[in-house]
Amino acid sequence: MLDLGVSSMQLDQAERGFSFLRDGPLDMRMSQDGPTAADLVNMADEGVLADILYNYGEERASRRIARAIVGARAAEPIATTARLAEIVAKCLPRPKPGQSHPATRSFQAIRIAVNAEFSELAEGLQAAERALKPGGLLAVVTFHSLEDRIVKRFFQLASGHEAHANRYAPAKTGTTARFDMVTRKAVAPDAAEIARNPRARSAKLRIGRRTAAPAHPVSPADLGLPEIQKKGRR
Ligand SMILES: C[S@@+](CC[C@H](N)C(=O)[O-])C[C@H]1O[C@@H](n2cnc3c(N)ncnc32)[C@H](O)[C@@H]1O
Repeated sequence: MLDLGVSSMQLDQAERGFSFLRDGPLDMRMSQDGPTAADLVNMADEGVLADILYNYGEERASRRIARAIVGARAAEPIATTARLAEIVAKCLPRPKPGQSHPATRSFQAIRIAVNAEFSELAEGLQAAERALKPGGLLAVVTFHSLEDRIVKRFFQLASGHEAHANRYAPAKTGTTARFDMVTRKAVAPDAAEIARNPRARSAKLRIGRRTAAPAHPVSPADLGLPEIQKKGRR
């Protein structure tokens, strides 16, 4: 069972620095070691920042926000979640009632970068494939479209279907499926669950049953992992 992303405990503790709703140190590390989000926003190249915001947050104003971050940090290092949220919000139109906070995508992107969430996810899925015995189940809950796309792609390939193939199409001949899908399509929470737990609103559950076929590695490119440039292009 993989329940992806940040936990409520992490979000609700201001000192963990995940949330733009609670001011705290700009940290965002799930494992509480290694470089923090403050290290990333205060040291990364403007082009790299824009790439991270664009590829990990689907933030269309990625360049404008990256430029604003670089400008702000020149005056004073960005040390808190509130300060980063303020810089990002200034780059975007004021949200209409019911719209999410303007910093949502940027915070998601920076969190994914700080925790290498996509490469960890790719490794976790393949480790599960190696660990499960025939008949064993792999259940994955995703919370946003980018991670869901990776999980969907993994199960498509592991169940012998070409990426983007029609889910009703028979498995490609000559490929031995490593999983049979228990869920034909992602399972979403119903209205009652969302009312009980609004944080579940974007959740998607996918389940595959392991076959006896040998495990087979898949590359980050096969899974469609976005590539972040090393330095200076965007
Ligand atoms: C959505 S939360 C799980 C919440 C849990 N199911 C609960 O109900 O309390 C995902 C958790 O996975 C942890 N995590 C993230 N990446 C990880 C990794 N590569 N290895 C192990 N745990 C990781 C995070 O720190 C986070 O606490």
